[in-house]
Amino acid sequence: MDAKTHWEKVYTTKEPEAVSWYSAHLEISLALIERAAPSRSASIIDIGAGESTLVDDLLVRGYENITLLDVSQTALEATKKRLGLHAQQVNWNVADITQVELEPFAYDVWHDRAVFHFLTSNEQRAGYVRNVAKAVNHGGHVIVSTFGPEGPTKCSGLEVMRYDAELLHSEFGTRFRLIESLKELHRTPFGTTQQFLYCYCKVE
Ligand SMILES: C[S@@+](CC[C@H](N)C(=O)[O-])C[C@H]1O[C@@H](n2cnc3c(N)ncnc32)[C@H](O)[C@@H]1O
Repeated sequence: MDAKTHWEKVYTTKEPEAVSWYSAHLEISLALIERAAPSRSASIIDIGAGESTLVDDLLVRGYENITLLDVSQTALEATKKRLGLHAQQVNWNVADITQVELEPFAYDVWHDRAVFHFLTSNEQRAGYVRNVAKAVNHGGHVIVSTFGPEGPTKCSGLEVMRYDAELLHSEFGTRFRLIESLKELHRTPFGTTQQFLYCYCKVE
């Protein structure tokens, strides 16, 4: 089953708050985005946004230039519906991040929570890195969050990669200067915990 088929099935069969990655507020992501982009006109892309509440919280904080990308149309449609009229303030992109061609230098902040770790082949990771290297402005920031070294080995029935900061940073190359990494114990809606790793990088 390809990625799109898998994720469309997930989002047509599961409620938004019944998936292991659900969080009412992505506090670490929000703090890092505010640190990377004090200006509310900053251009922010959320890769694999799914049905995440991050966009709601960014709009409340006054961010004006948000793009949500996901391989699942169903997930983005659900988010659009949830936002109501505010959906018009957001740019929408249904695409596979490993294959799409993003605009060069279009974004000041690249955010990805729990997408990169699903890329288990070299080709997929190369496609992703090509896009992040092309689409983020010089001086922009990249926030990528994956399962940490003690995180799960599977998610949503799929095999995942687990990263420490050094390994994750090494996937991106020397133009990405690692400013900070941190770990989080995410509490799932089922009461279990999952270790996440965040890398916060500046693009030279
Ligand atoms: C575990 S969910 C995380 C969703 C959201 N980032 C969050 O933290 O709530 C992974 C998301 O990545 C999307 N995804 C998976 N592979 C993708 C790909 N190759 N390109 C774009 N989106 C992808 C899925 O549809 C799903 O919404």
